[in-house]
Amino acid sequence: MARNRSQSSGGPSGPRPDRGKSTDQVEAPAGGKALPERRPAKLACRNVWKLFGSDAKRFLKRHDYAPTAEQITQAGLIGAVQDANFDVAEGEIFVIMGLSGSGKSTLVRCMSRLIEPTAGETFFDGQDLQKTPEKELIDLRRHKMGMVFQHFALLPHLTVLHNVAFPLEIQGVDRRTREARAREVIELVGLKGRERYYPRELSGGQQQRVGLARSLSVEPEVWFLDEPFSALDPLIRREMQDEFLRLQNMLQKTIAFITHDFDEAIRLADRIAIMKDGVIEQIGTPENLVTSPATDYVAEFTKEVSRAKVLSVRSIMESATEATSPQDAVSAAAKIEQVAARVFDQETPVPVVDAEGRLVGVLTREAVLKVLVRRPEP
Ligand SMILES: Nc1ncnc2c1ncn2[C@@H]1O[C@H](COP(=O)(O)OP(=O)(O)OP(=O)(O)O)[C@@H](O)[C@H]1O
Ligand SMILES: [Mg+2]
Repeated sequence: MARNRSQSSGGPSGPRPDRGKSTDQVEAPAGGKALPERRPAKLACRNVWKLFGSDAKRFLKRHDYAPTAEQITQAGLIGAVQDANFDVAEGEIFVIMGLSGSGKSTLVRCMSRLIEPTAGETFFDGQDLQKTPEKELIDLRRHKMGMVFQHFALLPHLTVLHNVAFPLEIQGVDRRTREARAREVIELVGLKGRERYYPRELSGGQQQRVGLARSLSVEPEVWFLDEPFSALDPLIRREMQDEFLRLQNMLQKTIAFITHDFDEAIRLADRIAIMKDGVIEQIGTPENLVTSPATDYVAEFTKEVSRAKVLSVRSIMESATEATSPQDAVSAAAKIEQVAARVFDQETPVPVVDAEGRLVGVLTREAVLKVLVRRPEP
């Protein structure tokens, strides 16, 4: 697939590049904003490059901001992030996934400008972070961004309470206020009663909850989570994902979440960006990636995914007849997995309604069977 390396575009409402087109353009109303439900962009990346190695800036300029992967390698550089372009809408869970070394952590660090991009712009609430003075940037990070790093460490000599209150202490918040807030978020992550424990007295999953609580203590607007559950065994990991979704339901943060686990990504994501060797191969909803993979790599990546978990009723429903009654209908937005048993419980096709309860189609057993029984590869 041809790579688009165009360097067009300006601020967060600038034109979009080819990659990521599939979702954004499907969802975009003609001429309108390309974000789900037209929510404003909370975070944005425009033509972001991060090349590690000497003289990277000049190298990029010399190649007109469009070097090939071969040219990057030949120059002895590492193309950790190459021409990343996307928006994250307010309240969205944007998952970045890819194999180890594909550039996920580097990309997210560029988004908070913890790492200086070699080229391109990153925006927070429309504010160009490249033009933001360092002091203001530190303030922004302290007050509006919550971060959980990939190999985060709790402070071993501090109790749970003091670990969680620590970011507020750095902000200069008085003791009473910061401890009250810390108790609140400790309860939120399900660790009430453990305030006086030390990290070594907690399980891995509990420590990760403390890490999440600590990143939430400052009431961030944006939450950057770099593989927060990767150290956990599968059962606890699932619990943490549920916990995370429960929290997000209440808090409605804007979230950039890194994982290399596609099952985790489809459980959590509004949209997923798939990275390979520093390049974002595609951005889309889980359903979008599975049904219309933009590259062979994305197709390969999504091959093993349970389609019943990802596909919605809407994507396989058929037209209703005039005689169809909307009684005992299923929702068009529901996933096949959620409604399969119901469809097999009755002889006739099941009516499908939209969010307003209007009849929009029917779901047949045959259609559901086709999803459940994977056809052999041609
Ligand atoms: N400070 C650095 N100096 C040089 N190369 C670096 C640096 N940081 C990262 N890289 C390289 O950039 C590439 C992307 O690294 P990054 O840490 O972003 O990957 P990742 O997708 O987060 O991987 P993982 O899943 O293992 O955490 C890798 O090839 C890595 O070796
Ligand atoms: Mg990483």
